[in-house]
Amino acid sequence: TYEKLWLAASMLLIVGFIATVTYGAVGLGIAMIDDSESSINPDALDEDDRFTDPRVEEMDDGTYEAYVVAEQYRFNPDPLEVPANSTVTFYVTSPDVIHGYEIVGTNVNTMVIPGEVATMTVEFEEPGEYGVVCNEYCGAGHHGMEGEVHVV
Ligand code: CUA
Repeated sequence: TYEKLWLAASMLLIVGFIATVTYGAVGLGIAMIDDSESSINPDALDEDDRFTDPRVEEMDDGTYEAYVVAEQYRFNPDPLEVPANSTVTFYVTSPDVIHGYEIVGTNVNTMVIPGEVATMTVEFEEPGEYGVVCNEYCGAGHHGMEGEVHVV
């Protein structure tokens, strides 16, 4: 009957819509992780173990690297813990939409673009707790997108 036809047609439309959205999201992942312009690998970010396992890691030279994922609507890891008197290079990325990464009360404040990696090096001295906020409108949960950095 016509009813079934309409149902089938609307299902197709939904599947098509999801496919489009998925393609768009994955397509954005191409840009920056992949240095070589000739080969395009949309899964590069998904397979980048810095971001499949967000964390803080100590380097051989005693500095630290922090791999952070900003996504609707949280930061990972959270809280992010770093030692006092340390130098930390942040690598921040997003799997979904544009976010911000601001450590309140510091000059750490960057835009986080899907598929790209924002980098900044920060020195932490005294122990303390800092709030982290997203300062780019990223959707309904934007205002609740907060995290913490603990300097211990
Ligand atoms: Cu994420 Cu606003």
